[in-house]
Amino acid sequence: MKLIVFMVLIISFGAAHNFTNAPVLVIHGINDDCDYGIVDEISTYLDTYAECYPIGGDEAPIVSMFYNINHQGRILCERIHQDDYLKDGNFSIMGVSQGSIVAKYIIEYCPLEHPVRNLVTFGGPHMGVSFVPTFPKESKLGSTLAWIVNKIVYYRMTQYFLAPADFWRDPNNQEGYFEYSRFLAEANNEINFDQRRKDQWLKLQHATFVMWDNDTTIIPKESSWWGMYSPDLKLLSRFETDLYKNDLIGLKTLEESGRAEFISIPGDHMEYTRTQINLIVGPTFIK
Ligand SMILES: *[C@@H]1O[C@H](CO)[C@@H](O)[C@H](O)[C@H]1NC(C)=O
Ligand SMILES: *[C@@H]1O[C@H](CO)[C@@H](O)[C@H](O)[C@H]1NC(C)=O
Ligand SMILES: *[C@@H]1O[C@H](CO)[C@@H](O)[C@H](O)[C@H]1NC(C)=O
Repeated sequence: MKLIVFMVLIISFGAAHNFTNAPVLVIHGINDDCDYGIVDEISTYLDTYAECYPIGGDEAPIVSMFYNINHQGRILCERIHQDDYLKDGNFSIMGVSQGSIVAKYIIEYCPLEHPVRNLVTFGGPHMGVSFVPTFPKESKLGSTLAWIVNKIVYYRMTQYFLAPADFWRDPNNQEGYFEYSRFLAEANNEINFDQRRKDQWLKLQHATFVMWDNDTTIIPKESSWWGMYSPDLKLLSRFETDLYKNDLIGLKTLEESGRAEFISIPGDHMEYTRTQINLIVGPTFIK
């Protein structure tokens, strides 16, 4: 009996290495949950193992709103280490909205034998979010941000307890962003430059950044393409940022070597279909 169990284990672990493509980790957005429909679809489409871990556990998606990004990243990293298909690394990440920021944590800080392989982000606030969104009622991130802005964004307590404060960028208060953004400014190497963080990004085979053409939650929507507002509220494309010009996190190198792609899709934040997802993650995750 024990032998049979043992053989079944061997067979199932053997199978793990016969998938056509690297495994995929889907990271969900704020106060959201894993959409296992999407996960199963990607798994079938790419013939691979795909998984998503609800950061608050199955009962409490709300914590993704209150835990800071470092805390969320640590939780997810632990889950990765307990997952036989993911624990050695070499998996691809699909980050959705705030999940794109948690993806930065996994790429840079989660210890893995082999680095993260490919990355796709949908509506990822890579350079932060700058204004109270004109949030559609159904947008959880929008309404959450508006609520926070109405409170006290830059106080340390807020920084500690509210995840989106980790990627709030007040164009008129760059110093405040550098001083208080507990996660984003550092993860982007905008402060405390650390070559190791950049090296982790340069280990990606391919990264695709998806922007929603009519995103009213990520402000400016170009943040999904690493753009941002200047202090005088001029929209800067990624090419005009210090981050890009000085290649702080390797984005310029990735793009110039054909390993970063910037795609836009129609619609507002979180408006996508499974077909669109497959058509975008497919070509990236087979690399
Ligand atoms: C899976 O790979 C192993 C060795 O890498 C091989 O022996 C086995 O036949 C493969 N199984 C399938 C179903 O392709
Ligand atoms: C990582 O995954 C790719 C795609 O499945 C595979 O070709 C490659 O050999 C893997 N690398 C390592 C170090 O396992
Ligand atoms: C989406 O944005 C485009 C260009 O910015 C605009 O022409 C179009 O009317 C917008 N569509 C909707 C539904 O808001």
